[in-house]
Amino acid sequence: MDDAEAIRAIYNVEVEASTVTFDLIARTEAEQRAWMEDHSGAYPCLVAVATSEEGFEPGAILGYASLSPFRDRPAYATTVENSVYVDRQARGLGLGKQLLVAIVDAAKNQGFHSVIARITGHNGLSVTLHQQVGFETVGIEREVGRKHGVWLDVIELQLLLD
Ligand SMILES: CC(C)(COP(=O)(O)OP(=O)(O)OC[C@H]1O[C@@H](n2cnc3c(N)ncnc32)[C@H](O)[C@@H]1OP(=O)(O)O)[C@@H](O)C(=O)NCCC(=O)NCCS
Repeated sequence: MDDAEAIRAIYNVEVEASTVTFDLIARTEAEQRAWMEDHSGAYPCLVAVATSEEGFEPGAILGYASLSPFRDRPAYATTVENSVYVDRQARGLGLGKQLLVAIVDAAKNQGFHSVIARITGHNGLSVTLHQQVGFETVGIEREVGRKHGVWLDVIELQLLLD
């Protein structure tokens, strides 16, 4: 399996089975290819790759973190939005935190000033993870989404980089 398909598999489980993403329909192969194109250069995607010690197939992709533009209008260009996903079989091993620290470092190296995480209200684990890496809550959007019959809040957290 190549990187794009491994990332798509990890992501689509959450699209279909959880409320951590507001996407409702699984990403297609073509959409994933386009996503990969968009997540190169200034907006990278980093992956966590299994080594022989972890009990997974060596080389398997266990998780990923990415940066995306925060908003289209040009004055927002110094801010990015981050994302982090770990395969359900590989959670609780520290990969989410390593990926988040690495993507924040990448944002610093790219010269961005601010990173925003927009996290579904029910996803306390992700809020805690971001707080552990220095993000602070800057806002809550109440019931802005609906998925699986549930109203969804979005908690916005921010990390200023310099
Ligand atoms: C959120 C997510 C990325 C965390 O990844 P992970 O690899 O399981 O997290 P880690 O193992 O690095 O753990 C990070 C911290 O979360 C806490 N944690 C992890 N699993 C936990 C659990 N099951 N219960 C309570 N706390 C837990 C730990 O306290 C850990 O901190 P520590 O280093 O002080 O022990 C992962 O659960 C995931 O992919 N979720 C679905 C996608 C998602 O919600 N992404 C975020 C959208 S913004």
